[in-house]
Amino acid sequence: MKVLVTGGAGYIGSHTCLELLRSGHEVSVIDSLYNGSKEALTRVQRLSNCTLEFSQCDVRDAQALDRIFDQFKPDAVIHFAGLKAVGESVAEPARYYDVNVGGTATLLGAMERAGCNNIVFSSSATVYGEPQYLPCDENHPLDPINPYGRTKLMGENLLKDWSSAKQDRHAVALRYFNPVGADASGLIGEDPNGIPNNLMPFISQVAVGRRECLQVFGDDYDTIDGTGVRDYIHVIDLAQAHIVAVEQIGTLEPFEVINIGTGEGLSVLQIVEEFEKQSGKTVAYQIGQLRPGDAPAVWADATKAINKIGFKATLDIVEICQDTWRWQSANPTGYSEK
Ligand code: NAD
Ligand code: WQD
Repeated sequence: MKVLVTGGAGYIGSHTCLELLRSGHEVSVIDSLYNGSKEALTRVQRLSNCTLEFSQCDVRDAQALDRIFDQFKPDAVIHFAGLKAVGESVAEPARYYDVNVGGTATLLGAMERAGCNNIVFSSSATVYGEPQYLPCDENHPLDPINPYGRTKLMGENLLKDWSSAKQDRHAVALRYFNPVGADASGLIGEDPNGIPNNLMPFISQVAVGRRECLQVFGDDYDTIDGTGVRDYIHVIDLAQAHIVAVEQIGTLEPFEVINIGTGEGLSVLQIVEEFEKQSGKTVAYQIGQLRPGDAPAVWADATKAINKIGFKATLDIVEICQDTWRWQSANPTGYSEK
């Protein structure tokens, strides 16, 4: 298939491009490089021994999109491009709605003009808000508690309306739980700007000596050891979920939402312990205040992914920690050109 990947120079996008190329698909990437790296795409091509097309462009630039659709003529789009920092979305909601919702609307417009009918969209478990029951299945009420989450829910609604407006359109929203890890080569991985918001890059930066100490956001929850529990999914599994979704998209309902997680939860301290074991490094931590908006525990009911698209995560926390450490220890400051 010919697949146009927006945001393909970012963390999940670059791993998905690698898996697309490894599976024999043709790939064209558009990315503004706001939070992505061209070096990641150079390494993806080296690892896969295949080439991909790259255009530095903003997903809100309709004219540039028209040119790219006209030249590449994709069968499907995988749409990663967007902003993802929860705290920033509270401080700058207009920018988040503009990029995440406006960008998706502009992209769908270009797809309409080009006659491209298939899209896989990066959604998030954040659309569920505070879990009312566990595991979270796709029928769980949708009540995101921050602007970022609301932009993702609006993106899903936009896709639903778009897919029902005309025959033969297909849209799949994949609701990711907590993507972590890196390709096993250690050549590509997660390279956040500034102080990481997320747990795994923070832990790996402590282990490699870039940060002194992890703050554990509370140890008094009603969980196995009092610390927060999440469903951590290896980014290569997540990339595979996109491949199987895009390959089967024409056989699916016009609009589908599918959780992508492992179906199991792990606590902050369980992750720290496993990371120490796999890296051979000590991860200094101290127990700090709760982070506002954090739920005690979130994990997926991952059965719909098995039933609808035959996807099941195969990599566990041992591989997640090994692969994260291989990437972080070989690239202590991430992609050098960033
Ligand atoms: P990322 O920031 O590494 O990748 C996003 C990419 O989009 C970057 O390369 C960035 O340069 C590009 N981009 C941003 N704005 C753009 C614009 N206006 N035009 C063109 N390109 C633009 O993030 P990621 O972790 O790879 O996330 C990818 C997608 O998955 C995002 O939509 C995110 O909301 C979603 N998601 C991420 C997580 C997570 O924890 N990482 C969880 C659930 C959902
Ligand atoms: C995981 C656990 C923290 C950092 C976020 C977004 C969500 C989605 C994924 C995009 C929690 C604890 C964390 C730290 C800690 N992104 N923690 N110290 O909050 O589940 O989800 O990323 O869609 O929208 O909200 O992930 O990695 O931030 O936290 O103790 O320095 O680690 O309290 O229990 P989260 P996370």
